[in-house]
Amino acid sequence: MYKSYFGLKENPFNVNPDPRYLYLTKQIEEALTGLMYGIQTRKGFITLTGEVGTGKTTLVNRLLDWLRQRRTRTAFLFNSRMNTSHLFDFILAEFEIVCESRTKSQQLMKLNQWLLERYRAGETAVLIIDEAQNLSYPVLEEIRMLTNLETSTEKLLQIVLSGQPELEEKLKLPQLRQLKQRITLRCKTAPLTKEQTHAYIAERLRIAGTTGEQIFSPEAMDTVHMYSLGIPRVVNLLCEHALINTYVEQERVVSPKIVEDIAREFQLDEIEPIPPPGSSRIDNDVYNSETFVQNLGEALSRFRVSSPAVSSARDKK
Ligand SMILES: Nc1ncnc2c1ncn2[C@@H]1O[C@H](COP(=O)(O)OP(=O)(O)OP(=O)(O)O)[C@@H](O)[C@H]1O
Ligand SMILES: [Mg+2]
Repeated sequence: MYKSYFGLKENPFNVNPDPRYLYLTKQIEEALTGLMYGIQTRKGFITLTGEVGTGKTTLVNRLLDWLRQRRTRTAFLFNSRMNTSHLFDFILAEFEIVCESRTKSQQLMKLNQWLLERYRAGETAVLIIDEAQNLSYPVLEEIRMLTNLETSTEKLLQIVLSGQPELEEKLKLPQLRQLKQRITLRCKTAPLTKEQTHAYIAERLRIAGTTGEQIFSPEAMDTVHMYSLGIPRVVNLLCEHALINTYVEQERVVSPKIVEDIAREFQLDEIEPIPPPGSSRIDNDVYNSETFVQNLGEALSRFRVSSPAVSSARDKK
């Protein structure tokens, strides 16, 4: 197994949104601090948005850990393809509120009463919905209603919606402007710069228990950045398979060539290239380009379902 070959205790590039692995870039730190601050000060309604695979769920999981340590009451919904009655059922179930009636008005009354009790007891209640870009308009409208649960001075329920940039687009629609006006804090995740990609790889290897020997050459990390465009999920994809192939070839250090071969296998080489040298910023147009979105979607779907080429590399282990 490649773990012991590289002196690692666990798989460093697992695709799970494991909060132990959270690498705090300035932006991620700002987003986390923003979320914590917004909840603590009862800001009411907060959004967390960012491109696919840039760490929203990982960040939310870290936030949930923090909230649970503080014994904050939380309802976490990640199945965003729900209708309005599911929404209330899920919220009550998550908060463990018993309500015999399934009518919306009764459920809302129960929720309000429970929230008031929490408020009087000095407790905070938080509703977090991940993948919120998939929420339907009727559900978003109900969420707007939930933002109305308040005392004369403070919001009773803190709401965090986390999702891909389509969420922001949805909230711009005229029929949702009332909800948009209620957003008090906007937090963001973003792709990694080249320097951050290096640090990210090093950090994940450290957490996975590396003894400090070089595993990726700096040039290999540059190549990872070039093909991943700094998107952590794609960085993980490339690094995971680079480790496997380096092990299969019985090399000690991951080379740029190995990374390139994997990028080609996943057709990442067809994605729009990185910005010109010297610029650490990736132009937004790159992300909006059709080729990029198409190829990224393709790459990520291959990543989720192991492709034959990948399985054969795995089989060689
Ligand atoms: N800042 C980070 N630190 C450590 N790992 C990260 C970070 N950002 C992303 N990752 C890793 O990248 C992968 C994708 O992250 P995650 O699932 O959180 O992204 P997402 O923004 O929720 O994606 P999606 O838009 O598809 O829901 C995970 O394996 C996650 O652990
Ligand atoms: Mg996610």
